[in-house]
Amino acid sequence: MDDASYLDFHFKPEHFRRSDESHDEFFYTDPRFVVHIDDNAIVAATRLYKELLPEHGKVLDLMSSWRSHLPKDVRYAEVVGLGMNADEMADNPQLSSYVVWNLTTSPSLPFEDAQFDGAICTVSVQYMVKPVEVFRDVGRLSSTLGS
Ligand SMILES: C[S@@+](CC[C@H](N)C(=O)[O-])C[C@H]1O[C@@H](n2cnc3c(N)ncnc32)[C@H](O)[C@@H]1O
Repeated sequence: MDDASYLDFHFKPEHFRRSDESHDEFFYTDPRFVVHIDDNAIVAATRLYKELLPEHGKVLDLMSSWRSHLPKDVRYAEVVGLGMNADEMADNPQLSSYVVWNLTTSPSLPFEDAQFDGAICTVSVQYMVKPVEVFRDVGRLSSTLGS
């Protein structure tokens, strides 16, 4: 069974249906400057990112907000945020740039092939309605996995 048939077999459309199917723009109109995880979880995420993301690499922060939890003592070439709220991402000191983008309506990412060296998606994957499409496209962006 190839990759696509395996995924189609195991993941039915109803598995990704939400109890509230209203447009994501409604929920994310107003900025929310909150942290979603406690200090220990932030430390664990930061430690993992330090281990996995290449120093001086270009990083994509998927489903980004006002904090990226990246290590402060590591320099990245660029950190690009993609999320729903511009005010939140504008307040994120670790982002070099950001794009407001709805992954539910547009799971193909607005970036050229093979331009990122790493991608993170912190405490947000549960909001994705099309995770298979999104992560397949993240592979396309990878400087090592992509085309
Ligand atoms: C729980 S917050 C996490 C934010 C950030 N990653 C963090 O660690 O604090 C969820 C984030 O998912 C983003 N998000 C939710 N639905 C989205 C969608 N359809 N497309 C893109 N981003 C989305 C929102 O912008 C929001 O900032």
